[in-house]
Amino acid sequence: MVRPLIAATILTFTLFAIVILPSEAQGQGRGNDLQVGFYASGCPKVEDIVAEVVARVHEQDPKLPPALLRLFFHDCFVKGCDASILLDATSSGEPIEKASTANGETLRGLEVVDEIKAQVEQECPKTVSCADILAFAAREAVYLAGLPGHNVPAGRRDSRTSRASDVDVNLPTPGTPLEDIINMFARRGLTKEDMVVLSGAHSIGKAQCTQFTDRLYKFTPAVPRDPSLNPTYADELAGKCPAEQPPGQALRFTVEFDPTTPLILDNQHYLNLQKGRGLLQSDQLMATDPGTRPIVDQMAASNEAWGRRFIKAMIKMGRINVLTKDEGVIRTNCRAYL
Ligand code: HEM
Repeated sequence: MVRPLIAATILTFTLFAIVILPSEAQGQGRGNDLQVGFYASGCPKVEDIVAEVVARVHEQDPKLPPALLRLFFHDCFVKGCDASILLDATSSGEPIEKASTANGETLRGLEVVDEIKAQVEQECPKTVSCADILAFAAREAVYLAGLPGHNVPAGRRDSRTSRASDVDVNLPTPGTPLEDIINMFARRGLTKEDMVVLSGAHSIGKAQCTQFTDRLYKFTPAVPRDPSLNPTYADELAGKCPAEQPPGQALRFTVEFDPTTPLILDNQHYLNLQKGRGLLQSDQLMATDPGTRPIVDQMAASNEAWGRRFIKAMIKMGRINVLTKDEGVIRTNCRAYL
């Protein structure tokens, strides 16, 4: 079953995946070992199963795509795309990635991955890795949020370890200096342009007020409000985010990244940044720093060009430090290390 939109774009993106990307995956370890159609003989229906489950849940929950996209990003940046983020425990008994500050209660979409994995195990036991399921689910998220369907190289295997202490050192936060964020991406074989392009994921989904209230109330002792914030936007945000929140209530106070098209992956994120309407300080800095500003302007100029680059960069991100061939394992339950 090939969906019409995929059929319409399959030629372009097949060329994309096969011709351009492997040569661009330098510095990404075994990323070049991944192949489009990896499960063609071992589990030919896997990509259809992922598409069906994600589409069905999406009908009930239109906010599923940002959850899946962020899961994939947080998996790939910590030790590589090895599904370590999905583990509930490991043999060492140490706190797991899910228990870290950056993940904590903000991770969503985990039950959808469980449902996909259960169906896939029924169809072809012990064959498809949780890491590949995450990559396919992220592709469906991108598609359901409005970008073209595309091929995703597969062949990742799963890790059996997961440590909370690896997370906070490997994931950027809104307060991380831009130069450090650029270096974090560079260490994973991703360029400054990839970084700006991938951050366009912030055209969907939401953030807790705690991620940016400093910008509204205590930017510096002398200047309480971040001057790079558009004043009208800052007032809107202050209306939604009180300076003090009742303890334990952070998840109740959230704001959409892009109030214009909150469910659609598009270049509106960059148009917002140009107007001082970036929610996170790290995003806003990309529009003011002379090293990244021209890239923001380019992305703002063409939705289509950004979308193409975004898909390419997602595929590149999916190659970070993957385990392949005789490395890692195929977990039968994505939450369990055995
Ligand atoms: C460049 C550095 C980045 C920083 C500092 C950053 C930071 C954040 C923060 C603080 C949130 C809000 C979390 C919450 O309060 O629940 C968030 C949400 C999100 N991020 Fe990022 N992020 C970055 C890059 C990325 C990348 C590369 C992607 C994917 C390709 C991504 C995808 C998302 C998505 C989709 C959400 C919304 C999640 C939801 O609605 O559940 N981010 N990010």
